[in-house]
Amino acid sequence: MAKGIGYGKTILFGEHFVVYGLPGIASAISDYTVAEVEAGEKGLTLVDNRPAVEGYKKTKQDEISREFESILNFMKIDVDKTPLKITLSGNLECASGIGASAALASSVARALDEHFNLGLNDDQINEVAYEGEKGGSGTPSGIDNTCSTYGGMLIFEKDLSGGPNKIDMIASNPLNIVMANTGITQETKKVVEDVKKEKDKNPEKFEEIFAEYKKVFDEAVIALKEGNIEKVGKLMDKNQELLSQITVSCPEVEKIISIAKENGALGAKLTGTGRGGLVICLSPDSQTSDKVEEAIQKEGFKTSKTVVGKK
Ligand code: MEV
Repeated sequence: MAKGIGYGKTILFGEHFVVYGLPGIASAISDYTVAEVEAGEKGLTLVDNRPAVEGYKKTKQDEISREFESILNFMKIDVDKTPLKITLSGNLECASGIGASAALASSVARALDEHFNLGLNDDQINEVAYEGEKGGSGTPSGIDNTCSTYGGMLIFEKDLSGGPNKIDMIASNPLNIVMANTGITQETKKVVEDVKKEKDKNPEKFEEIFAEYKKVFDEAVIALKEGNIEKVGKLMDKNQELLSQITVSCPEVEKIISIAKENGALGAKLTGTGRGGLVICLSPDSQTSDKVEEAIQKEGFKTSKTVVGKK
């Protein structure tokens, strides 16, 4: 049976800012979604066995259907003529902020490529995955599908004129990260649209925030390359402040951040869409990660640990 995988991701710096052509830094995580494609009986039969946080699949139902429609259209696959059964599984627990829709898109693109013997390379798989993301979430930057498709840690900069986006792999020391889940699922499309409305209302304020963010990004690249994780943590905090100014934080995110900081995290911020979803907390070592996890769990939030960067 044709099979494809797509990685989950975490955005270390720059969610939302990347939509406006500013550079961001993101990393794939080791958890992934698996798509399996086989001949179906009628149209598209979708079996979604992915693990997911409560409410995720319901909230994302429309987004997921739009994603499939866009992928099939772009690949010129007509399921009325060639019925397909697609089964999704894998160890990536779907939640807002983990890049689940991008992982779906690139895993499905890879599995369809194999099923129909198309011989697509990674860049072409990424193109298909981006189309899927566009169908699902409107005006995505492309950072999520790029991580899902290529893996690793990377700098991403969207070319706003429609040319190829800038993607540079970046080497960093391993970063110990606790991912805490607010339990709130958001529609990326809606949050991105809200930010745009805010930006249209306050263009000057946004210009200032964008300039501040660019400084954070520039310093973050240096800190990551030098392995200065204390600095990386401080910059994550600064990035979080800016995310809060563009209205994508929320009380649950702020609460998790305070707990993490009180228990030794070097920095913490929301990751991905925001207004819920996931918070990433950077620990100096794995013992601190354990302490941070325990403290966050005590307040009723689910957590998991990941290491990104070179191992
Ligand atoms: C979502 O994971 C990241 C956003 O910046 C949207 C995007 O880049 O497409 C919020």
